[in-house]
Amino acid sequence: MVRVVFYLVLCLTLFGAGTSAASDQSAPADTSQSRFKELEKGPKTIDVSKYPKEMQDNYKIFGKTCSKCHSLARPINSTYALPDEWERYIKRMKRKPGSGIGSKEAKAIYEFLVYDSQVRKKELYDKKLKEQEASGQNKEKAK
Ligand code: HEC
Repeated sequence: MVRVVFYLVLCLTLFGAGTSAASDQSAPADTSQSRFKELEKGPKTIDVSKYPKEMQDNYKIFGKTCSKCHSLARPINSTYALPDEWERYIKRMKRKPGSGIGSKEAKAIYEFLVYDSQVRKKELYDKKLKEQEASGQNKEKAK
């Protein structure tokens, strides 16, 4: 329960204040293709049977929306974990022509991926969060 509240607050904060922060100039390098191959070798589904009902619904939207252009294994096995990372990436995917990702889908997918990262990739999530805090990389300073 505490986790859910924490997560909701986090979510609101990010959607309220963080929308202008993602500039997203990084063009994919040549190494992208081999990285994508690696990512797509991993599992293509997530066992969400123990996730809250709402997250199970969000997973369905994620599964339908994010497997249109590449395998769902790509986001599932990605090392993105932090809310910032997902926000930036979902925006990037949303902007692609014919993505079919609207604001409603984007929000549901964001909620799912942030929740899922904290459960399934907890170690990575905690590690990245610490690194982010240590480097003082908050949005105010980055401006
Ligand atoms: C319209 C097609 C399209 C849709 C829909 C789409 N993607 Fe992508 N995705 C791409 C393309 C093209 C790339 C490789 C180039 C890039 O990163 O921009 C990519 C790459 C990725 C990567 C790999 C990033 C990296 O560099 O390691 C992730 C993670 C990802 N997508 C997640 C998602 C998620 C999550 C969704 C659903 C919100 C989604 N994609 C929906 C086209 C799409």
